[in-house]
Amino acid sequence: MRNTISGFSKFSKSEKIEWLLNTYFSDKDSARTLVQRYWNTDEKLQKLHDEFIENTITNYYLPLGVAPNFLINDTFYTIPMAIEESSVVAAASKASKFWLNRGGFKAEVLSTEKIGQVHFIYKGDFEKLQSFFAHVKPKLISETASITKNMERRGGGILDIELRDKTSDLPNYYQLHATFETLDAMGANFINSCLEQFASTFKNEAQSFENFTTEEKNISIVMSILSNYVPQCLVRAEVSCKVEDLKSKDIPNPEEFAQKFKQAVQIAEVETYRAVTHNKGIMNGIDAVVLATGNDFRAVEAGVHAYASKDGKYSSLTHCSVENGIFKFWIEIPLALGTVGGLTSLHPLVKFSLEMLQKPTAKDLMKIVAVAGLAQNFAALKSLTTTGIQEGHMKMHLMNILNQFEATETEKVKLIEHFKKNVVTHSAVVEAIERIRK
Ligand code: MEV
Repeated sequence: MRNTISGFSKFSKSEKIEWLLNTYFSDKDSARTLVQRYWNTDEKLQKLHDEFIENTITNYYLPLGVAPNFLINDTFYTIPMAIEESSVVAAASKASKFWLNRGGFKAEVLSTEKIGQVHFIYKGDFEKLQSFFAHVKPKLISETASITKNMERRGGGILDIELRDKTSDLPNYYQLHATFETLDAMGANFINSCLEQFASTFKNEAQSFENFTTEEKNISIVMSILSNYVPQCLVRAEVSCKVEDLKSKDIPNPEEFAQKFKQAVQIAEVETYRAVTHNKGIMNGIDAVVLATGNDFRAVEAGVHAYASKDGKYSSLTHCSVENGIFKFWIEIPLALGTVGGLTSLHPLVKFSLEMLQKPTAKDLMKIVAVAGLAQNFAALKSLTTTGIQEGHMKMHLMNILNQFEATETEKVKLIEHFKKNVVTHSAVVEAIERIRK
């Protein structure tokens, strides 16, 4: 069966839903009820969500949780996290509490440069291209004046444009490699608008550049787009304390813990299979805050993983040292984030999250997000190197299993009590449910 359709985007919302129901669902009424149950009764709010994307049929909820007690550079934060994975917020809260009495987290922004490129094909003499670039560069800047005016007034704008010869990688391939300061905006729209203007000016001006031959005048612009790789938009976050101060209820032997923890980080530094999972755990914390604050987690993911491979081999994003009795654990990652523009001024829960974070600048948010990643990794490695991860995970997962079996509130209370003393496994929970239902 070919279930294709044309003109779908022009259908009304209910026409779209009816088409889906008729095409794919056997129990149409239940499917329709489900879709409608997730609509917001506030029509204005629903319309806002409908218009974020095309062909919206309903809303897809994720829990928004909070992790309190984060002390970052001597300021207290409660961090909002939008995520479905059951153990993430609990892990963040545990890590924040652990470090609260050990000096908290320290974080600093190392750089804030964003990048965009115009990729083009030029068939001709490179020296002539260089002299054309020198001639046209001021015009590239001046012709973006209407785009850059507001950003420049606030202290940002285009930092530089370079001509790059990439012909050793691909025949006739060159770039305009541009750098930007976009302040509190993530900057994607600003950068892409500038780049498209550069491309148009560059192509037009080439046509009247006297030294070019006819073929050289015919520069072909392939595309103009920002890069989500931002190795010069870096933030570093760190925790440290005396090894002996690591001692706690679950860390009876801090010296042994510090060494094992360091070994776990070293393993992620040298072993790709482990590094990917190690970094995935970091991204559990990072993505959740990025999403809650209305930022683009795909952009962050892509850039962070590229950074993890910057030395030619995929490796850990966090590092650890145990020297002279001091345990130090830190992360350094590229993060292009915004606290103005985009969803930040549109999505009511994003505004709520940003207010909870005391209306951060983009730099503040970079620090908070890096800390969330470091905290998550600390919690994961602490569990992995001591009790193992499943104890905590399965405790959190218990509620998912109970909900799957539609446990009543009374059943939940009984079973949660029971599993305080017993190991949670899927089959143990199923057996316990069956037992109390007999
Ligand atoms: C699970 O979502 C994340 C962990 O696997 C991370 C790690 O292994 O470090 C627990």
